[in-house]
Amino acid sequence: MSNKLFLLPGDGIGPEIMDEVKKIIEWMNANLDAISFEIDEGKVGGSAYDAHGAAISEEDMEKAMTADAVLFGAVGGPKWADVPYEVRPEAGLLRLRKDLGLFANLRPALCYPALADASSLKKELVEGLDILIVRELTGGVYFGEPKEITDLPDGQKRAVDTQLYTTSEIERITRVAFDLAKTRSNRVSSAEKHNVMKSGVLWKEVVTRIGAEEYKNTPLEHVLADNCAMQLVRNPKQYDVIVCDNLFGDILSDVAAMLTGSLGMLPSASLGAPDAASGKRKALYEPVHGSAPDIAGTGAANPIAMVASFGMALRYSFGLIKEAEMVDAAISNVLDKGLRTRDIATEGANVVTTSEMGDAIIAELKAL
Ligand code: NAI
Ligand code: MG
Repeated sequence: MSNKLFLLPGDGIGPEIMDEVKKIIEWMNANLDAISFEIDEGKVGGSAYDAHGAAISEEDMEKAMTADAVLFGAVGGPKWADVPYEVRPEAGLLRLRKDLGLFANLRPALCYPALADASSLKKELVEGLDILIVRELTGGVYFGEPKEITDLPDGQKRAVDTQLYTTSEIERITRVAFDLAKTRSNRVSSAEKHNVMKSGVLWKEVVTRIGAEEYKNTPLEHVLADNCAMQLVRNPKQYDVIVCDNLFGDILSDVAAMLTGSLGMLPSASLGAPDAASGKRKALYEPVHGSAPDIAGTGAANPIAMVASFGMALRYSFGLIKEAEMVDAAISNVLDKGLRTRDIATEGANVVTTSEMGDAIIAELKAL
């Protein structure tokens, strides 16, 4: 097994939650036959700026490029509010996304049984929920040119952003969504607005063609993105995989995320194109949340989003499905036993620290 993991803990609670993943990796290396990860660690964000004056060093970029998967904690914080724009903490993450060519962003929305009651929605709506949003990450209106604000003769200003997609950009994200659907409940919903956007017309056309030509056994439905947002709140379990562009994906994945509860629970994966020779994709796994400077150093950080992100790495970068399922089951079991970090604690919960939560997950892994 190709087995190189590159860890970039980052800033704030990043190192604290990454420590729990390191404990889990060490336990797996020692106890699971299928697993022997080689770990290297670098710096990103403010901590890289403090050490090298850059948001990520060239040496660490090189390590990220040659790793089988990158595990990323979080970056940023008030300490670096005034550093020059080009080397601000976020620049490290943007550089990684760009150089690794991470065009597909995977955001699961999964409701752990023990947390169904704590959801902001009715229990019957979210119990058993397991959907995956596949968002195009490197194209669309966030990057399209022209992108500018110009002065008009009458003293007004005019702002332009350009929503821009090519056939091949839509094709590759569509294939990622269909391939993933085949490993799940085998349904794809494509969200766009072909009724008012040309990019939506092309999006719908390309997704339809790829579905018909390459995935005829996977049902495909088209949904207008605004309706999709409504349906996610009304009846989210109707969906399995939702594929959408960068802008709609940004919004729909945040809507879907909040169906299931806290930021501290949400993992994500970002994948690149398969390598021509090895077929392997570059990949980065990170929690959805940021560096939470308000709780850094207090032991209150929930490590579950980071641990579940590692679970996604097992599944998507290493094909270790059984081990990925073990991680998910261990998280679920810990929650069933009532253990909670402060962010997800309800009345009467057994509130534990970051490292106690990590230890409890390992204890559940042992018991599986
Ligand atoms: P945040 O996600 O860091 O925190 C929002 C709230 O959620 C805070 O009250 C925090 O304590 C809580 N929270 C977040 N993760 C948690 C966890 N694992 N366990 C328990 N509670 C958790 O977002 P915020 O406050 O807007 O940004 C803080 C810093 O993080 C900023 O510098 C921001 O730029 C950066 N950031 C970095 C991201 C990344 O590295 N990918 C993403 C989002 C923000
Ligand atoms: Mg967002």
